[in-house]
Parts: sequence; C-alpha cells; structure tokens
Amino acid sequence: MPVQFSAPLMDAKHFPPSLIKAQPAFTLTGSSLWRYPLPVNHVSTFSRARYALAAAALHLKHSAQQNTVLLPAYHCPALVEPFIYAGYNIVFYPQLADLSTDIATFSHLLTPQVTHVVVVRYFGFSQNADELIQVAFAANKAVIEDNAHSLAHFWQTCAAQPPAISASVSSIAKTLGTADGGVLYLPGYKADTQVAAGFTTELKALRSGNRPITGSADADLRYFRAGMQIADCLRASRWLMLRSNYAAISRQRRENYHYLAQQLERSSAGQVLYPTLTEHDVPYVLPFLLHDIYGFTRLRQQQIQVLRWEELATTATGIASHYQQHLVQLPVHQALSKQQLQHIVKALG
Ligand SMILES: Cc1ncc(COP(=O)(O)O)c(C=O)c1O
Repeated sequence: MPVQFSAPLMDAKHFPPSLIKAQPAFTLTGSSLWRYPLPVNHVSTFSRARYALAAAALHLKHSAQQNTVLLPAYHCPALVEPFIYAGYNIVFYPQLADLSTDIATFSHLLTPQVTHVVVVRYFGFSQNADELIQVAFAANKAVIEDNAHSLAHFWQTCAAQPPAISASVSSIAKTLGTADGGVLYLPGYKADTQVAAGFTTELKALRSGNRPITGSADADLRYFRAGMQIADCLRASRWLMLRSNYAAISRQRRENYHYLAQQLERSSAGQVLYPTLTEHDVPYVLPFLLHDIYGFTRLRQQQIQVLRWEELATTATGIASHYQQHLVQLPVHQALSKQQLQHIVKALG
C-alpha cells in the first residue's frame, strides 16, 4: 500500500521568528586547522542524511526480489521518503513510550518478506537499538542504523565496523551547525558520481546558514529531491566535520541537557522523556512530553524553535500518533547561552 503522510499540524509562518534556534549556527569557534582523527574509511558524504539513506537503500537493494523495509512508526518524512524513492515496500514497527520497541513484537514482524530494517537512535539516545540490531541481523535482514541525531555514535560505528550493521547514516548539520551535510558508512559503496557544489552555492549557504535547494519536489515526496541525490556536501561542511572538537561539543550538549532536565523536573507543562543521560549519550535535543498540546504554540510564541514530528504516515497509531502532538524537541546545542536555557525553562514554568 502506498505511504501517505498526514498534513502538518502547524505552519511556522504563524509564529514570530525564532531567536533560540534548534541547531547551532555555523561557526569556526572550537574547530582547529588540524584534522580530528576520524575513522573515515568507507564513509561517503551527501548534502543531507536523507540522501545517504537513499544511497544505502539503492546499494543494498536485491535486484531479483521485492524489497521490504521495516521502519519505525514514529518518524519524520525524511526518514521514510528515501525508501519510497528507492522503490521499497514499507512496513512500520511500533514504539513504546520510551521509544524502545518490544522485542517480541519486533521479532514477529521480521517475516520472510522483510529484507531490510532501519533502527533509529532517537535524539542521541540508544533506547534498545543494540538489541533490535542483533535480532534483525540474526534473522538475516540488512540493518541500516539511523544515527541522524548522533554524529558521535556514527563515528563509533565507523570505527567498530560491527558485522550486524550493513550501513549507518548521520546528519552533520544537526550536530555541527553546518549549512548541509549527511554521511554514509557503507563498506563496498563508492560514491563516484557525487557532484561538488559551485562556489556561489557555497557562498549563499554560508550567508544564509542553509544550503539553497534547487529543483522542484518530486511527485508524492515532500522533503526529498531526486536531483539532490548526487550532490556532495559543501566544502565548508566537510571542513567542519573533519576539524571539529567532538569531545568539547559532546561535553557542552550533555551539560546543557543536565541543566534543562534538572530545571524541568517539576515542570507543570509536562515531563522530560529521559531524565538522565548514560555515559554514552550525546543528546541532539531534549525530548519533552507536553501535558497540553497548546504548550507547543506557547513555546513558539516565545520565539523558541521547538521541533515536533507532525507528519506521520497515516497508518500511525498508539505512541506515534500521541507523540505527533505531544512530544516536543527542546534545543540543547553547544552554542546556547545560560540565559537562553533559562528562557526555555521559564517558557515551560
Ligand atoms: C531520524 C532521522 N533520520 C533521518 C533524517 C534526515 O536527516 P537530514 O535532515 O540530514 O536529511 C532525520 C531528520 O530529518 C531524522 O530525524
């Protein structure tokens, strides 16, 4: 059955421009002229993680049979559309309240028709992703690890090269504040068709903070442009990717998360989904479960760029459909000031 997404619940045009952004702005502060030692073997670059996902989907596709991918029911369209583009049949698997997945339910869905599985480490936390990966691998499925929210974990996968993981992706822009950038770890894949951006595009992106998108949207796809599939990431994004101080960025994100989680412990507006961090977590955002759906509007009116996954495949039910309205993503990125963090706390007071 073809996948159809629900309409967005809100339009950013109805809110004042955000002063506290979801992602950091581009800056060279904290980067160095020297390259950070990264395990870049088997790594290819794209303009965004969605195109890295599409490249993995195309490369790992079986030519002689129908390809069916198991995707999480709680998602954003950018995670689903690459598989529509690559011609996969799509089946969704449900999430529990903490965004882990019940192993028995998951195993039951690993039917012989399923050829591929995508496992997401939501918001920089691992839930029970490692267990899901092992179960899917044991069932002989090609596993694609979605580390869009965790560049730190992506590099760990590249270094460890776990046999259970066929491919892994991440989004450079979500962690480093670059104007674009997606990375793909896929042994055996050669990105020899990638096209570098022209200097005008580089300059425009540096000025606006976002890579200009060319070409029109494809029929039935909202956030995926087939024309961008062969676009390489910008030189500025690669430069920052190779020279950022990941340890310092991770430390600052964890510190900001601790502060917000502590301050919001007794918030009347809702609850912090993960009150504590394990030593492995590098948060992308702080997921906060609102009691009242109007909390989202209040935050946006306070000029805080909270995100929410509003557009789900219409088959969404249970946790996915509840979180569509109630789960908001609060910024914790490394460039936030204490004052900005206090403003977020006050807005949820
Ligand atoms: C879980 C997940 N996977 C993939 C993507 C795609 O990332 P990008 O925006 O870099 O294409 C996103 C973001 O939209 C995401 O949240």
